[in-house]
Amino acid sequence: LNPQMEEGASSALRPAACRGKGGAPGFKVAILGAAGGIGQPLSMLMKMNPLVSVLHLYDVVNTPGVTADISHMDTSTVVRGFLGPQQLDAALTGMDLVIIPAGLPRKPGMTRDDLFNKNAGIVRVLCEGVARCCPDTIVNLISNPVNSTVPIAAEVFKKAGTYNPKRLLGVTTLDVVRANTFVAEVLGVDPRDVSVPVVGGHAGVTILPLLSQVTPPCSFTLDEIKYLTNRIQNGGTEVVEAKAGAGSATLSMAFAAAKFGDACLRAMKGEAGIVECSYVASQVTELPFFATKVRLGRGGAEEILPLGPLNDFERMGLEMAKKELNESIQKGIAFMNK
Ligand code: NAI
Repeated sequence: LNPQMEEGASSALRPAACRGKGGAPGFKVAILGAAGGIGQPLSMLMKMNPLVSVLHLYDVVNTPGVTADISHMDTSTVVRGFLGPQQLDAALTGMDLVIIPAGLPRKPGMTRDDLFNKNAGIVRVLCEGVARCCPDTIVNLISNPVNSTVPIAAEVFKKAGTYNPKRLLGVTTLDVVRANTFVAEVLGVDPRDVSVPVVGGHAGVTILPLLSQVTPPCSFTLDEIKYLTNRIQNGGTEVVEAKAGAGSATLSMAFAAAKFGDACLRAMKGEAGIVECSYVASQVTELPFFATKVRLGRGGAEEILPLGPLNDFERMGLEMAKKELNESIQKGIAFMNK
C-alpha cells in the first residue's frame, strides 16, 4: 500500500474524535553521535522515556537509518534525524538537553587519553554548536577522555560567553553502575538496592569508589576493598579487552547515560532530591573540575555535595587521583588556548 493512500483511507474511516494533535508535552533532547555504538541504544532508551517529547538524532554518518528504525517504536516521542555538519544547527536549536557520545572509542592497549587529539576536536566543534544554537541547554558529555573533554567544553562556552558551570555535566554514571553491580555481587544482594558514590574523574586511578560510604551501610575486608577498587577502576578495560578490538563499553554505557539523562530531566521538571555523581566544575578540592555527588535541579547541577568522611585507603587514592586529574584538566585547557 502507498503510505499516503493508507493514511487517507484510514482517516476517512476514523471519526474525528479519535484524532489527537499528537506530541505529548515534555523535553526536547538531542543526541550527538547518535549512530554510534553508544548512540544507537541510547537513542532507543531515550525514545522510551516518557519525559522526552522530541528526540533529535545527529551524527556525521547513518542517522537516516537509525532515525527511520527508532521512529517506528510506538511511544509518543517524535524522532528526527540530522546528518552532517550542515544540519548540526538545526539538530540543536530549541533543545533542553544535549547528550554527547560522539567520538572514537578505545581499542585494546589504549588509554582514554590516547583518544585526546581526535575527540578534543570533535567535542570542540559540537560545543561551539551548542553555544550558537542552544546556549541554555544542559549538556551531558560522554566523549572520552571525559577528564579533559569537560574542561575543553567549558573553555568553548567561556569563549562564546555562554558558560554556566551548572549546565555542563561530565557523565561518570557508568562507574557508579559498575560499582553498584560489583559491590552487590560481593554482598550477595540486588544491585538496585546498592548505592556507591564514585568520585574524582573517569579514567584509571582517577575513578575513586568510596566504599566506606556505600548504602546500605556495610563493611568490607581489605582484600575486598582492593579487589573492588581495582575492578571498578578497570571496568572499562575489562570490556575493551573482551571486545578485542571491536570498541569499548556501549550497551552498559547507553544504560548509564539513559539513567543519568532521566535524572537530569526529572530534576528539570521540578522533582526534588535527585542526587547523582557527575564530573563538574567544583570547589570540593583545589582542582577546577571534580566528580562528586551533585544535587540536580531545574538549572542542572544546583549543589555540589562534599566528599564526606574518607578512610586512609580512600585518602591515599584521592591524592593519586588528583595528580592525574590535574594533568588531564591542564591538557584540556591548553588544547583550547593553543
Ligand atoms: P563509536 O565509534 O561506536 O561511535 C561514535 C559515533 O560518533 C560514530 O557514529 C561517529 O560517526 C560519531 N562522530 C564522529 N565524529 C562526529 C562528529 N564530529 N559529530 C557527530 N558525531 C560524530 O564509539 P562509541 O563506542 O559509541 O563511543 C563514543 C565515545 O564515548 C568514545 O569517545 C568513548 O570513549 C566514550 N565513552 C565514554 C564512556 C563514559 O563513561 N563517559 C564510556 C564508554 C565510552
